[in-house]
Amino acid sequence: MKYFIFTDIHGNLEAFLAVLKFARRRKIDHFLFLGDMVGYGASPNEIIQKIQLLKPISIIRGNHDKAVSEIDNVKTFNPIAASAIHWTQQNLKKNNLSYLKRLKQGPRIVNKDITICHGAPFDEDHYIFGEFDAAEAFLHIKTQICFFGHTHFPFLYTEKDHFVEGTFITGDSSEIKIEKDIRYLINPGSVGQPRDRNTRASCAIYDSKQKKIKLYRIEYNIGEAQRKILEADLPAALAERLGLGI
Ligand SMILES: [Fe+2]
Repeated sequence: MKYFIFTDIHGNLEAFLAVLKFARRRKIDHFLFLGDMVGYGASPNEIIQKIQLLKPISIIRGNHDKAVSEIDNVKTFNPIAASAIHWTQQNLKKNNLSYLKRLKQGPRIVNKDITICHGAPFDEDHYIFGEFDAAEAFLHIKTQICFFGHTHFPFLYTEKDHFVEGTFITGDSSEIKIEKDIRYLINPGSVGQPRDRNTRASCAIYDSKQKKIKLYRIEYNIGEAQRKILEADLPAALAERLGLGI
């Protein structure tokens, strides 16, 4: 089985289209989306519509999806993120908003090997930053592999004999070999707003037969995504950061 893992699109249609084009050439059997379709970018409607065409897919909500749906308020958001949430609420079509509202909370067990969550398996809004958070996460995971999002950093944590080790994944293509007796907690990076100073869209493929997970960085039309943000009167900082990868 080939799984395509992606997260944190955040309304960036240009990045999402580039990633979809990449996936289409790779005979994917199952899509895994880890939340945050909307927030920040100027194309939330298009993304919600396109995601519904991907089948089969296992999907969970992110904190921005939740805030736009008014399941949660924007108190914990910084002013720029909060203003993008309000813009998205005003610009979403009714049917797309109701799709967003129906998204389920993570974690979700996909099968006997894979769990998906947005922030952490013990709290969908918690950021896994460092081995301490990862060690707590492993206590709540019942499968060998768990994919998470939310931080927008491609990252690998492994656990063997209760020892947890974290590795920041750099470069435009890297491979993780899945070994017996090791458990894995992996962030594939963000599609629509990478924050690791690499401006390319990030995603991953897990080949369960070959026991390999590959992370990829995909070039996309950043200028067009920035132009749409500015044209929509969203905060200019949201366009700027795409060009810096922060
Ligand atoms: Fe996010």
